Amino acid sequence: MTAIKGLEGIVATTSSISSIVDGVLTYRGYDIDDLAEHATFEETAFLLWFGKLPTAAELQVLQRDLSAFAPVPEQVIAQMKLYPKDASTMAALRSAVSSLALYDESADDMSREANRIKAVKLQAQIPTLVAALSRIRKGLEPVAPKEGVSIAENFLYMLRGQDPDEISVKALDTALVLHADHELNASTFAGRVTVATLSDIYSGVTSAIGALKGPLHGGANEAVMKMLEEIGGIESVEPYVRGKLERREKIMGFGHRVYKNGDPRAKHLMKMSRELGTMKGNTELYEMSVKIEELITGEKGLRPNVDFYSASVYTQLGIERELFTPIFAISRTSGWTAHILEQYEDNRLIRPRAEYTGLLEQTYVPVDER
Ligand code: ACO
Repeated sequence: MTAIKGLEGIVATTSSISSIVDGVLTYRGYDIDDLAEHATFEETAFLLWFGKLPTAAELQVLQRDLSAFAPVPEQVIAQMKLYPKDASTMAALRSAVSSLALYDESADDMSREANRIKAVKLQAQIPTLVAALSRIRKGLEPVAPKEGVSIAENFLYMLRGQDPDEISVKALDTALVLHADHELNASTFAGRVTVATLSDIYSGVTSAIGALKGPLHGGANEAVMKMLEEIGGIESVEPYVRGKLERREKIMGFGHRVYKNGDPRAKHLMKMSRELGTMKGNTELYEMSVKIEELITGEKGLRPNVDFYSASVYTQLGIERELFTPIFAISRTSGWTAHILEQYEDNRLIRPRAEYTGLLEQTYVPVDER
Protein backbone atom coordinates (compact mmCIF):
# COMPACT_ATOMS: atom_id res chain seq x y z
CA MET A 1 0.00 0.00 0.00
CA THR A 2 1.58 3.28 -1.14
CA ALA A 3 -0.10 6.55 -0.21
CA ILE A 4 -0.59 9.33 -2.76
CA LYS A 5 0.01 12.58 -0.87
CA GLY A 6 -3.01 14.85 -1.03
CA LEU A 7 -4.81 12.15 -3.06
CA GLU A 8 -3.51 13.94 -6.16
CA GLY A 9 -4.90 12.42 -9.33
CA ILE A 10 -7.04 9.88 -7.42
CA VAL A 11 -10.54 9.41 -8.83
CA ALA A 12 -12.55 8.93 -5.64
CA THR A 13 -16.14 8.86 -6.89
CA THR A 14 -18.34 9.11 -9.95
CA SER A 15 -20.44 12.27 -10.24
CA SER A 16 -22.71 13.78 -12.87
CA ILE A 17 -22.76 17.30 -11.36
CA SER A 18 -19.70 19.15 -12.65
CA SER A 19 -16.62 18.24 -14.62
CA ILE A 20 -13.17 19.62 -15.36
CA VAL A 21 -11.82 18.26 -18.63
CA ASP A 22 -8.81 19.83 -20.36
CA GLY A 23 -9.19 22.96 -18.25
CA VAL A 24 -12.89 23.41 -19.16
CA LEU A 25 -15.35 23.56 -16.25
CA THR A 26 -18.94 22.51 -16.87
CA TYR A 27 -21.97 22.23 -14.60
CA ARG A 28 -24.21 19.38 -15.81
CA GLY A 29 -22.63 19.73 -19.25
CA TYR A 30 -23.03 23.54 -19.51
CA ASP A 31 -19.79 25.47 -19.93
CA ILE A 32 -19.14 27.84 -17.03
CA ASP A 33 -18.50 30.65 -19.55
CA ASP A 34 -22.01 30.24 -20.92
CA LEU A 35 -23.58 30.14 -17.46
CA ALA A 36 -21.55 33.12 -16.18
CA GLU A 37 -22.83 35.17 -19.09
CA HIS A 38 -26.46 34.10 -19.15
CA ALA A 39 -27.65 32.22 -16.04
CA THR A 40 -28.77 33.54 -12.68
CA PHE A 41 -27.55 31.91 -9.48
CA GLU A 42 -31.04 30.49 -8.81
CA GLU A 43 -31.09 28.81 -12.25
CA THR A 44 -27.61 27.47 -11.58
CA ALA A 45 -28.59 26.01 -8.21
CA PHE A 46 -31.64 24.34 -9.79
CA LEU A 47 -29.37 22.94 -12.51
CA LEU A 48 -26.95 21.51 -9.95
CA TRP A 49 -29.69 19.97 -7.81
CA PHE A 50 -32.00 18.62 -10.49
CA GLY A 51 -29.74 18.09 -13.52
CA LYS A 52 -31.53 20.45 -15.90
CA LEU A 53 -32.22 24.14 -16.31
CA PRO A 54 -35.59 25.11 -14.79
CA THR A 55 -38.64 26.08 -16.82
CA ALA A 56 -40.06 29.52 -15.99
CA ALA A 57 -42.65 27.87 -13.73
CA GLU A 58 -40.05 25.73 -11.93
CA LEU A 59 -37.86 28.77 -11.39
CA GLN A 60 -40.77 30.68 -9.93
CA VAL A 61 -41.49 27.86 -7.47
CA LEU A 62 -37.82 27.72 -6.45
CA GLN A 63 -37.68 31.50 -5.94
CA ARG A 64 -40.85 31.33 -3.85
CA ASP A 65 -39.39 28.52 -1.71
CA LEU A 66 -36.06 30.34 -1.26
CA SER A 67 -37.94 33.44 -0.08
CA ALA A 68 -40.15 31.42 2.26
CA PHE A 69 -37.19 29.62 3.84
CA ALA A 70 -34.86 32.64 4.13
CA PRO A 71 -35.76 33.73 7.70
CA VAL A 72 -33.68 31.81 10.27
CA PRO A 73 -34.89 30.64 13.74
CA GLU A 74 -34.74 33.47 16.27
CA GLN A 75 -32.85 31.16 18.67
CA VAL A 76 -29.99 30.97 16.16
CA ILE A 77 -29.89 34.78 15.86
CA ALA A 78 -29.87 35.00 19.67
CA GLN A 79 -26.94 32.56 19.85
CA MET A 80 -25.02 34.48 17.19
CA LYS A 81 -25.30 37.61 19.33
CA LEU A 82 -23.36 35.76 22.03
CA TYR A 83 -20.45 34.84 19.76
CA PRO A 84 -17.23 36.84 20.37
CA LYS A 85 -17.30 39.86 18.01
CA ASP A 86 -13.77 39.14 16.83
CA ALA A 87 -14.39 35.46 16.01
CA SER A 88 -13.60 34.47 12.43
CA THR A 89 -16.77 34.81 10.36
CA MET A 90 -16.24 31.32 8.93
CA ALA A 91 -15.93 29.86 12.44
CA ALA A 92 -19.13 31.69 13.42
CA LEU A 93 -20.90 30.51 10.26
CA ARG A 94 -19.81 26.91 10.91
CA SER A 95 -21.39 27.09 14.39
CA ALA A 96 -24.55 28.84 13.17
CA VAL A 97 -25.18 26.32 10.37
CA SER A 98 -24.67 23.49 12.83
CA SER A 99 -27.24 25.15 15.12
CA LEU A 100 -29.82 25.36 12.32
CA ALA A 101 -30.16 21.56 12.52
CA LEU A 102 -31.27 21.79 16.15
CA TYR A 103 -34.34 23.78 15.14
CA ASP A 104 -35.31 21.71 12.10
CA GLU A 105 -37.57 18.82 13.05
CA SER A 106 -36.78 17.14 9.73
CA ALA A 107 -32.98 17.31 10.29
CA ASP A 108 -32.68 13.51 10.56
CA ASP A 109 -35.42 12.65 8.05
CA MET A 110 -33.43 10.79 5.40
CA SER A 111 -36.18 10.58 2.76
CA ARG A 112 -35.23 11.96 -0.66
CA GLU A 113 -38.00 14.58 -0.54
CA ALA A 114 -36.99 15.81 2.94
CA ASN A 115 -33.33 16.08 1.90
CA ARG A 116 -34.23 18.04 -1.24
CA ILE A 117 -36.26 20.48 0.84
CA LYS A 118 -33.38 20.85 3.32
CA ALA A 119 -30.98 21.60 0.45
CA VAL A 120 -33.19 24.52 -0.63
CA LYS A 121 -33.63 25.59 3.00
CA LEU A 122 -29.87 25.67 3.62
CA GLN A 123 -29.36 27.64 0.41
CA ALA A 124 -31.99 30.14 1.55
CA GLN A 125 -30.79 30.45 5.15
CA ILE A 126 -26.99 30.63 4.80
CA PRO A 127 -27.10 34.11 3.14
CA THR A 128 -29.35 35.30 5.98
CA LEU A 129 -26.85 33.96 8.55
CA VAL A 130 -23.85 35.60 6.85
CA ALA A 131 -25.56 38.99 6.58
CA ALA A 132 -26.72 38.75 10.22
CA LEU A 133 -23.20 37.82 11.39
CA SER A 134 -21.79 40.87 9.61
CA ARG A 135 -24.30 43.23 11.22
CA ILE A 136 -23.99 41.70 14.69
CA ARG A 137 -20.19 42.10 14.54
CA LYS A 138 -20.75 45.80 13.85
CA GLY A 139 -23.19 46.13 16.76
CA LEU A 140 -26.19 46.43 14.42
CA GLU A 141 -29.49 44.54 14.44
CA PRO A 142 -29.85 41.92 11.67
CA VAL A 143 -32.16 42.91 8.83
CA ALA A 144 -34.92 40.41 7.97
CA PRO A 145 -34.83 38.99 4.42
CA LYS A 146 -37.05 40.51 1.74
CA GLU A 147 -39.57 38.45 -0.22
CA GLY A 148 -39.49 37.99 -3.98
CA VAL A 149 -35.91 39.08 -4.72
CA SER A 150 -32.84 37.10 -5.77
CA ILE A 151 -30.30 35.73 -3.29
CA ALA A 152 -27.70 38.26 -4.51
CA GLU A 153 -30.08 41.21 -4.06
CA ASN A 154 -31.39 39.95 -0.73
CA PHE A 155 -27.90 39.40 0.64
CA LEU A 156 -26.76 42.94 -0.21
CA TYR A 157 -30.03 44.32 1.14
CA MET A 158 -29.67 42.42 4.43
CA LEU A 159 -26.05 43.58 4.79
CA ARG A 160 -26.82 47.27 4.37
CA GLY A 161 -30.46 47.60 5.25
CA GLN A 162 -31.11 49.38 1.95
CA ASP A 163 -31.80 48.35 -1.63
CA PRO A 164 -28.59 47.69 -3.60
CA ASP A 165 -27.95 49.05 -7.10
CA GLU A 166 -28.49 46.81 -10.11
CA ILE A 167 -24.82 46.63 -11.11
CA SER A 168 -23.76 45.37 -7.68
CA VAL A 169 -26.54 42.77 -7.70
CA LYS A 170 -25.51 41.55 -11.17
CA ALA A 171 -21.82 41.38 -10.21
CA LEU A 172 -22.51 39.40 -7.03
CA ASP A 173 -24.94 37.11 -8.86
CA THR A 174 -22.27 36.29 -11.46
CA ALA A 175 -19.69 35.64 -8.72
CA LEU A 176 -22.16 33.24 -7.09
CA VAL A 177 -22.63 31.38 -10.41
CA LEU A 178 -18.85 31.06 -10.81
CA HIS A 179 -18.30 29.63 -7.31
CA ALA A 180 -21.32 27.28 -7.24
CA ASP A 181 -19.62 23.95 -7.86
CA HIS A 182 -16.22 22.53 -8.65
CA GLU A 183 -16.12 18.77 -8.93
CA LEU A 184 -14.44 17.04 -5.98
CA ASN A 185 -12.83 20.06 -4.30
CA ALA A 186 -11.73 19.67 -0.66
CA SER A 187 -14.89 21.03 0.98
CA THR A 188 -17.24 19.03 -1.26
CA PHE A 189 -15.23 15.90 -0.56
CA ALA A 190 -15.44 16.63 3.19
CA GLY A 191 -19.23 16.99 2.89
CA ARG A 192 -19.53 13.74 0.93
CA VAL A 193 -17.35 11.83 3.40
CA THR A 194 -19.54 13.03 6.28
CA VAL A 195 -22.88 12.07 4.74
CA ALA A 196 -21.52 8.76 3.42
CA THR A 197 -21.80 7.56 7.03
CA LEU A 198 -25.53 8.32 6.55
CA SER A 199 -25.19 11.37 8.74
CA ASP A 200 -27.57 14.27 8.02
CA ILE A 201 -27.24 17.06 5.44
CA TYR A 202 -26.55 19.74 8.11
CA SER A 203 -23.55 17.71 9.32
CA GLY A 204 -22.34 17.45 5.73
CA VAL A 205 -22.57 21.19 5.09
CA THR A 206 -20.99 21.97 8.48
CA SER A 207 -18.01 19.74 7.58
CA ALA A 208 -17.77 21.42 4.20
CA ILE A 209 -17.71 24.90 5.77
CA GLY A 210 -14.87 23.79 8.04
CA ALA A 211 -12.87 22.62 5.02
CA LEU A 212 -13.61 25.74 2.97
CA LYS A 213 -12.30 27.99 5.75
CA GLY A 214 -8.64 27.07 5.22
CA PRO A 215 -6.35 29.41 3.23
CA LEU A 216 -5.36 26.67 0.79
CA HIS A 217 -9.04 26.51 -0.25
CA GLY A 218 -11.79 29.17 0.13
CA GLY A 219 -9.90 31.17 2.75
CA ALA A 220 -7.49 32.29 0.02
CA ASN A 221 -9.76 35.15 -1.13
CA GLU A 222 -9.47 36.86 2.26
CA ALA A 223 -5.71 36.24 2.25
CA VAL A 224 -5.49 37.91 -1.19
CA MET A 225 -7.22 41.03 0.13
CA LYS A 226 -4.96 41.08 3.17
CA MET A 227 -2.00 40.98 0.77
CA LEU A 228 -3.42 43.86 -1.32
CA GLU A 229 -3.93 45.88 1.89
CA GLU A 230 -0.35 45.13 3.03
CA ILE A 231 1.04 46.17 -0.35
CA GLY A 232 -0.89 49.43 -0.16
CA GLY A 233 -0.19 50.86 -3.64
CA ILE A 234 0.96 49.98 -7.14
CA GLU A 235 4.55 51.16 -6.56
CA SER A 236 5.00 48.62 -3.73
CA VAL A 237 3.81 45.59 -5.70
CA GLU A 238 7.14 44.57 -7.20
CA PRO A 239 9.32 44.70 -4.05
CA TYR A 240 6.58 42.94 -2.05
CA VAL A 241 6.14 40.11 -4.54
CA ARG A 242 9.87 39.67 -5.12
CA GLY A 243 10.43 39.49 -1.35
CA LYS A 244 7.80 36.77 -1.00
CA LEU A 245 9.29 34.80 -3.87
CA GLU A 246 12.80 35.08 -2.41
CA ARG A 247 11.52 33.80 0.93
CA ARG A 248 9.75 31.00 -0.99
CA GLU A 249 6.40 32.00 0.50
CA LYS A 250 3.16 31.14 -1.24
CA ILE A 251 1.23 33.90 -2.96
CA MET A 252 -2.43 33.42 -2.19
CA GLY A 253 -4.83 33.25 -5.12
CA PHE A 254 -2.33 31.51 -7.41
CA GLY A 255 -1.93 27.89 -8.39
CA HIS A 256 -4.40 25.07 -8.46
CA ARG A 257 -4.31 21.32 -7.93
CA VAL A 258 -6.24 20.59 -11.14
CA TYR A 259 -5.75 23.61 -13.44
CA LYS A 260 -2.16 23.99 -14.48
CA ASN A 261 -2.89 26.33 -17.43
CA GLY A 262 -5.27 28.71 -15.73
CA ASP A 263 -8.59 28.64 -13.91
CA PRO A 264 -11.46 29.32 -16.37
CA ARG A 265 -13.35 31.29 -13.71
CA ALA A 266 -10.55 33.80 -13.12
CA LYS A 267 -11.00 35.72 -16.39
CA HIS A 268 -14.63 36.55 -15.54
CA LEU A 269 -13.65 37.91 -12.14
CA MET A 270 -10.76 39.83 -13.67
CA LYS A 271 -13.16 41.49 -16.13
CA MET A 272 -15.61 42.29 -13.34
CA SER A 273 -12.79 43.77 -11.26
CA ARG A 274 -11.76 46.05 -14.15
CA GLU A 275 -15.34 47.10 -14.93
CA LEU A 276 -16.23 47.85 -11.30
CA GLY A 277 -13.02 49.85 -10.87
CA THR A 278 -13.69 51.87 -14.03
CA MET A 279 -17.26 52.49 -12.98
CA LYS A 280 -16.18 53.72 -9.56
CA GLY A 281 -13.37 55.83 -11.03
CA ASN A 282 -10.62 54.00 -9.12
CA THR A 283 -8.84 51.11 -10.80
CA GLU A 284 -5.91 50.87 -8.40
CA LEU A 285 -6.89 47.52 -6.84
CA TYR A 286 -7.39 46.07 -10.31
CA GLU A 287 -4.07 47.45 -11.55
CA MET A 288 -2.24 46.13 -8.48
CA SER A 289 -3.80 42.72 -9.09
CA VAL A 290 -2.75 42.72 -12.76
CA LYS A 291 0.80 43.66 -11.79
CA ILE A 292 0.95 40.83 -9.22
CA GLU A 293 -0.32 38.41 -11.86
CA GLU A 294 2.33 39.54 -14.38
CA LEU A 295 5.08 39.01 -11.83
CA ILE A 296 3.89 35.63 -10.50
CA THR A 297 3.08 34.22 -13.92
CA GLY A 298 6.37 35.54 -15.31
CA GLU A 299 8.52 34.26 -12.46
CA LYS A 300 6.77 31.04 -11.40
CA GLY A 301 4.47 30.18 -14.31
CA LEU A 302 1.56 30.12 -11.84
CA ARG A 303 -1.83 31.47 -12.94
CA PRO A 304 -4.51 33.15 -10.80
CA ASN A 305 -7.31 30.98 -9.45
CA VAL A 306 -10.94 31.91 -8.68
CA ASP A 307 -9.93 33.56 -5.40
CA PHE A 308 -7.50 36.10 -6.80
CA TYR A 309 -9.69 38.64 -8.59
CA SER A 310 -12.72 37.93 -6.41
CA ALA A 311 -10.93 39.83 -3.62
CA SER A 312 -10.88 43.11 -5.58
CA VAL A 313 -14.40 42.48 -6.92
CA TYR A 314 -15.92 42.11 -3.43
CA THR A 315 -13.97 45.07 -2.06
CA GLN A 316 -15.23 47.25 -4.89
CA LEU A 317 -18.76 46.10 -4.05
CA GLY A 318 -18.17 47.59 -0.59
CA ILE A 319 -18.05 44.20 1.13
CA GLU A 320 -15.64 43.75 4.05
CA ARG A 321 -12.84 41.18 3.77
CA GLU A 322 -14.23 39.01 6.61
CA LEU A 323 -17.21 38.12 4.39
CA PHE A 324 -15.32 36.93 1.32
CA THR A 325 -15.03 33.28 2.31
CA PRO A 326 -18.58 33.22 3.76
CA ILE A 327 -19.82 34.50 0.35
CA PHE A 328 -17.98 31.60 -1.24
CA ALA A 329 -19.89 29.36 1.22
CA ILE A 330 -23.21 30.96 0.21
CA SER A 331 -22.55 30.02 -3.39
CA ARG A 332 -20.95 26.63 -2.81
CA THR A 333 -23.91 25.53 -0.65
CA SER A 334 -25.64 24.77 -3.95
CA GLY A 335 -22.79 22.48 -5.04
CA TRP A 336 -22.28 20.92 -1.61
CA THR A 337 -25.94 20.03 -1.25
CA ALA A 338 -26.15 18.73 -4.85
CA HIS A 339 -23.19 16.43 -4.09
CA ILE A 340 -24.71 15.35 -0.77
CA LEU A 341 -27.99 14.45 -2.52
CA GLU A 342 -26.00 12.55 -5.15
CA GLN A 343 -24.05 10.72 -2.44
CA TYR A 344 -27.28 9.61 -0.71
CA GLU A 345 -28.67 8.28 -4.01
CA ASP A 346 -25.94 5.66 -4.41
CA ASN A 347 -24.16 5.60 -1.08
CA ARG A 348 -21.22 3.58 0.09
CA LEU A 349 -19.20 4.44 3.21
CA ILE A 350 -16.03 6.36 2.24
CA ARG A 351 -13.25 4.72 4.17
CA PRO A 352 -9.85 4.61 2.49
CA ARG A 353 -6.68 3.09 3.96
CA ALA A 354 -3.46 4.64 5.27
CA GLU A 355 0.08 3.52 4.55
CA TYR A 356 1.48 2.88 8.03
CA THR A 357 4.85 4.55 8.65
CA GLY A 358 4.99 4.27 12.45
CA LEU A 359 6.94 2.06 14.86
CA LEU A 360 6.57 -1.73 14.80
CA GLU A 361 6.71 -4.49 17.39
CA GLN A 362 6.53 -2.29 20.48
CA THR A 363 5.91 -3.97 23.83
CA TYR A 364 3.77 -2.36 26.50
CA VAL A 365 5.73 -1.00 29.47
CA PRO A 366 3.77 -0.30 32.70
CA VAL A 367 3.55 3.42 33.49
CA ASP A 368 5.77 3.28 36.61
CA GLU A 369 8.54 1.61 34.61
CA ARG A 370 8.72 4.26 31.82
N1 ACO B 1 2.69 30.69 -4.61
C1 ACO B 1 3.95 30.26 -4.73
N2 ACO B 1 4.29 29.02 -5.05
C2 ACO B 1 3.28 28.14 -5.28
C3 ACO B 1 1.94 28.52 -5.19
C4 ACO B 1 1.65 29.84 -4.84
N3 ACO B 1 0.38 30.26 -4.71
N4 ACO B 1 1.17 27.47 -5.49
C5 ACO B 1 2.00 26.47 -5.75
N5 ACO B 1 3.27 26.87 -5.63
C6 ACO B 1 4.46 26.06 -5.82
C7 ACO B 1 4.76 25.27 -4.57
O1 ACO B 1 5.59 25.97 -3.66
C8 ACO B 1 5.44 24.04 -5.13
O2 ACO B 1 6.76 24.37 -5.49
P1 ACO B 1 7.95 23.35 -5.21
O3 ACO B 1 7.60 22.13 -6.02
O4 ACO B 1 9.13 24.09 -5.67
O5 ACO B 1 7.93 23.08 -3.74
C9 ACO B 1 4.66 23.80 -6.43
O6 ACO B 1 4.19 25.09 -6.83
C10 ACO B 1 3.48 22.85 -6.27
O7 ACO B 1 2.65 23.37 -5.23
P2 ACO B 1 1.76 22.50 -4.27
O8 ACO B 1 1.39 23.30 -3.08
O9 ACO B 1 2.40 21.16 -4.01
O10 ACO B 1 0.51 22.25 -5.21
P3 ACO B 1 -0.86 21.63 -4.75
O11 ACO B 1 -1.49 21.05 -5.93
O12 ACO B 1 -0.67 20.75 -3.56
O13 ACO B 1 -1.64 22.90 -4.19
C11 ACO B 1 -2.80 24.90 -4.03
C12 ACO B 1 -2.54 23.64 -4.88
C13 ACO B 1 -3.08 24.49 -2.60
C14 ACO B 1 -3.99 25.63 -4.56
C15 ACO B 1 -1.53 25.80 -4.11
O14 ACO B 1 -1.31 26.22 -5.44
C16 ACO B 1 -1.61 26.98 -3.17
O15 ACO B 1 -1.29 26.83 -1.99
N6 ACO B 1 -2.08 28.16 -3.66
C17 ACO B 1 -2.25 29.29 -2.81
C18 ACO B 1 -3.56 29.16 -2.03
C19 ACO B 1 -4.75 29.37 -2.92
O16 ACO B 1 -4.82 30.30 -3.71
N7 ACO B 1 -5.77 28.50 -2.71
C20 ACO B 1 -7.03 28.58 -3.46
C21 ACO B 1 -7.12 27.48 -4.47
S1 ACO B 1 -8.59 27.61 -5.41
C22 ACO B 1 -9.82 27.17 -4.36
O17 ACO B 1 -9.67 26.36 -3.52
C23 ACO B 1 -11.06 27.83 -4.45
